[in-house]
Amino acid sequence: MNIGIDKIGFFAPPYYVDMTKLAEARGVDPDKFTIGIGQDEMALAPVTQDAVTLAANAALQIIDEEDKEKIDLVLFGTESGIDHSKSAAVYVHNLLGLNPYARSVELKQACYSATAGIQMAKGHIALNPDSKVLVIGADIARYGLGTPGEATQGAGAVAMVISKDPKLLLLENDSTYFTNDIMDFWRPLYSENAYVDGKFSNEQYILFFNKVWEKYKERTGRTLADFAALCFHTPYTKMGWKALRTILEEGTEEVQEKLKANYQTSIRYNRRVGNIYTGSLYLSLLSLLEENDTIQAGEKIGLYSYGSGAVGEFFTGILQPDYKKYLHINRHEELFRSREEVSVEKYEEIFQNTLPSDGASIELESDNDPSPIYLSGIQDHKRIYVNRI
Ligand code: CAA
Repeated sequence: MNIGIDKIGFFAPPYYVDMTKLAEARGVDPDKFTIGIGQDEMALAPVTQDAVTLAANAALQIIDEEDKEKIDLVLFGTESGIDHSKSAAVYVHNLLGLNPYARSVELKQACYSATAGIQMAKGHIALNPDSKVLVIGADIARYGLGTPGEATQGAGAVAMVISKDPKLLLLENDSTYFTNDIMDFWRPLYSENAYVDGKFSNEQYILFFNKVWEKYKERTGRTLADFAALCFHTPYTKMGWKALRTILEEGTEEVQEKLKANYQTSIRYNRRVGNIYTGSLYLSLLSLLEENDTIQAGEKIGLYSYGSGAVGEFFTGILQPDYKKYLHINRHEELFRSREEVSVEKYEEIFQNTLPSDGASIELESDNDPSPIYLSGIQDHKRIYVNRI
């Protein structure tokens, strides 16, 4: 059976910070952020957006009435969860008005968990061919003001419908994956911000990539020449490039040029959003699909997923006929166009305006958040969500 990604939706919050201005405010050469790190803009979530609203806003764009009936499994990958017990997937299931006869579960393994969701979804569809699975990766990446990780923050969500006979990307059954218990990046239960051993995390990201890539070649006999493009988990856009360049020499000059050009296309959206953790790889895939003019149906795309702690996976997909027809390119152009740039001062204010840490009830000012779905406040320790549509 052919199983894969049938639809992709993307959402970013309504604000962003210009990385050149952030660099100037931090006394850093802007080239460090725009070239050394490879980020132009950083999406910023107001207090009225959390992982649930970002996810629901992304899914809202792609779900139609048939999907609402057929989706019987919601798998929500996030590392910005809002509750230790209740899954974020249940809130999203309600906000979207999905068929109640469904399973809804949150998955966690840092930035890797949406990939785990996709692989589980494949198994579910194989056993239940007429059902559909909604897989979401949604996160707010926070390292703290003035930290080395600050330039690699971001916020957003990618939602995907996984089904048989997919319209976008058929997923092959050829994954290679690797797990090792390391402390490169983590966020203890008591902390709003992530802890990270930055240089170590970079090294491990590449090491895991090399391990799964080598294993993949050994198992399948395939080479770089088999790929039209490789997409990477993108904590910042230079990171994927650092991994890609470790294997580029395996290809002819022509293959190298093609993969380099398509890598640049795959990071255009990420350059303007920043790290969205679980959704980052899929934002890169979306960028590649929507922004390239050369990749044909039938060509193979490689995907590298990495979640600190750590798990890495390499897997592949085949582009489907007329895939461009099923994308929402205009909507995403409009999403980027309608975002409002905020000054560094305003960003710092928004960043520090978090929910009460003791769970006190609060009503939030939502006038500045035009997003269809938003958090309106907390009452009796319960988050209150509103769907304007
Ligand atoms: N012009 C051009 N380039 C410049 C420059 C300038 N003026 N000044 C510096 N640079 C370059 C540096 O040479 C360096 O390039 P290379 O990495 O190619 O050597 C790059 O800019 C970054 O400079 P530093 O290494 O000095 O930057 P830093 O130490 O201040 O921080 C970081 C970089 C470690 C990535 C930090 O941002 C961080 O900790 N980020 C969070 C962790 C992270 O994203 N890790 C990625 C792997 S883990 C993962 O993928 C999971 C996840 O999502 C978190």
